[in-house]
Amino acid sequence: MGPPGAGKGTQAKRLAEKFDMAHLSSGDIFRAEKTGGSVLGREMARYMDAGELVPDEIVIGVMTRAITKSKAPGGFLLDGFPRTVAQARVLDEQLSAAGAALDVVVVINAEDELIVERITGRRSCPDCGKVYHVKFMPPKRKGLCDACGVELVQRDDDSEAVVRQRLETYRRQTEPVIAYYRGRPGCEVLDIDGGANVDEVTALTVEALDGVKAKA
Ligand code: AP5
Repeated sequence: MGPPGAGKGTQAKRLAEKFDMAHLSSGDIFRAEKTGGSVLGREMARYMDAGELVPDEIVIGVMTRAITKSKAPGGFLLDGFPRTVAQARVLDEQLSAAGAALDVVVVINAEDELIVERITGRRSCPDCGKVYHVKFMPPKRKGLCDACGVELVQRDDDSEAVVRQRLETYRRQTEPVIAYYRGRPGCEVLDIDGGANVDEVTALTVEALDGVKAKA
């Protein structure tokens, strides 16, 4: 969890690879639906492009299907879901019905102005999805994906105005989810400083996760 641009996607990819987990990013799943141009995708786009949350009833259906289909040996890592207390409650019920429970919540934080700089400089490959930053993680050839050579694109919701709205939405609707998990027996909430460079944030997160494992 964490505000937009804190580095959730960047770190989730690394952690999923390291721990052999399925990386289930609600934002990536919704953007694929949007790009496909389905009725559902067009409905999602109305909210996403305005920096608002997609309604719970849509999100819960789509994410439940993604979780049910995931089959990685290390389990799954949720990135961007749940984002409202209602989503968190449904997730709890579904996990409990399956005899499972959420054991760790990683919260990556960063200052607002750093977030705006990260988001407005983000570019990604429309083919392979690799994420870059014009200043912090530039591609080898300006504007082109290192792996595919195709032109990098900017997300529709990555303007400064929309990111400030996304931050407001995060504070109002998603921060209460962190409070919901904090202090719950059997669930560790790990607070990570996302302001450091990418490798340092990975090292801090892995160290915190190793600490949880050692206690188990
Ligand atoms: P989503 O795609 O989840 O967007 P977000 O939460 O706003 O997060 P971002 O993807 O923008 O940021 P990130 O933290 O992953 O940062 P990243 O690693 O890319 O959701 C999009 C929309 O979908 C939502 O607004 C909503 O409408 C809808 N939605 C999704 N889930 C929903 C749900 N559950 N309920 C309802 N609606 C939902 O990094 C950002 C940039 O910074 C990159 O360029 C990266 O290269 C760079 N960077 C990352 N880490 C560092 C670092 N340590 N140092 C320097 N640069 C860095």
